[in-house]
Amino acid sequence: MTNFYGRKIPRGADKEEIKQLFNCSYFFHKDKKIDLRRNLLSFSRLNLEIGFGSGENLINSAQEMSEEIFIGCDPYLRGSLLLRKKIESMNIKNVILTNLSFLELFEYIKDIYFKKILILFPDPWPKKRHLKRRLINKNFLTLLDQISNQQTDIIISTDNVDYQNQILYLFYLDKNFIPSTEIFGKKLFNYFGLKETKYYQKAKKSKNKSYFFLFNKRN
Ligand SMILES: C[S@@+](CC[C@H](N)C(=O)[O-])C[C@H]1O[C@@H](n2cnc3c(N)ncnc32)[C@H](O)[C@@H]1O
Repeated sequence: MTNFYGRKIPRGADKEEIKQLFNCSYFFHKDKKIDLRRNLLSFSRLNLEIGFGSGENLINSAQEMSEEIFIGCDPYLRGSLLLRKKIESMNIKNVILTNLSFLELFEYIKDIYFKKILILFPDPWPKKRHLKRRLINKNFLTLLDQISNQQTDIIISTDNVDYQNQILYLFYLDKNFIPSTEIFGKKLFNYFGLKETKYYQKAKKSKNKSYFFLFNKRN
């Protein structure tokens, strides 16, 4: 599986702010000497958002469900830097941010089962020569299989028709998962109380249709 393509540090980012972020108790990075697994497992309901971007949905969910833990991974630091002030001013205690890519984070979370796994508007990489960079591929599903059980809701959205087809086809081929034929689209968005993310808003502005899917583990 591919790891991460793109910028990690925003242009003009303040080095002191990055240092402060790396010292925050809720920010996990490779050199952090904390037991992430143990920390996560002290909660009975765990949620993971892969590529949380600016974190609109992640923070809103953490605020609404204070008894659950929400971990978000995104190697691009812009979102984490923005969220630091929010997390502190709102005194949010049930969120963990990390700059690890999903593949890197996977080493810490394998065999932990999440209640919800969200991948909202993953980078579509529309150019043919970049298709291999897409996060959701056959191997990604193999990893998802190891962090989900029959109770896990896997929520994926995209506004790219080709990526949508690829996602549906991959899940169709992978016999471990089944798409929900009842909860999808706008109904899914409301059912899970999702918050509009930056890329959902961008899609709306460009009048692109956004697709929301729910996948569950087969019994
Ligand atoms: C198009 S943005 C969507 C952000 C947000 N979910 C939204 O809907 O506004 C995709 C995000 O995925 C992140 N990303 C890309 N590859 C990733 C990976 N391998 N692991 C975790 N995050 C990744 C990018 O840094 C970027 O912030």
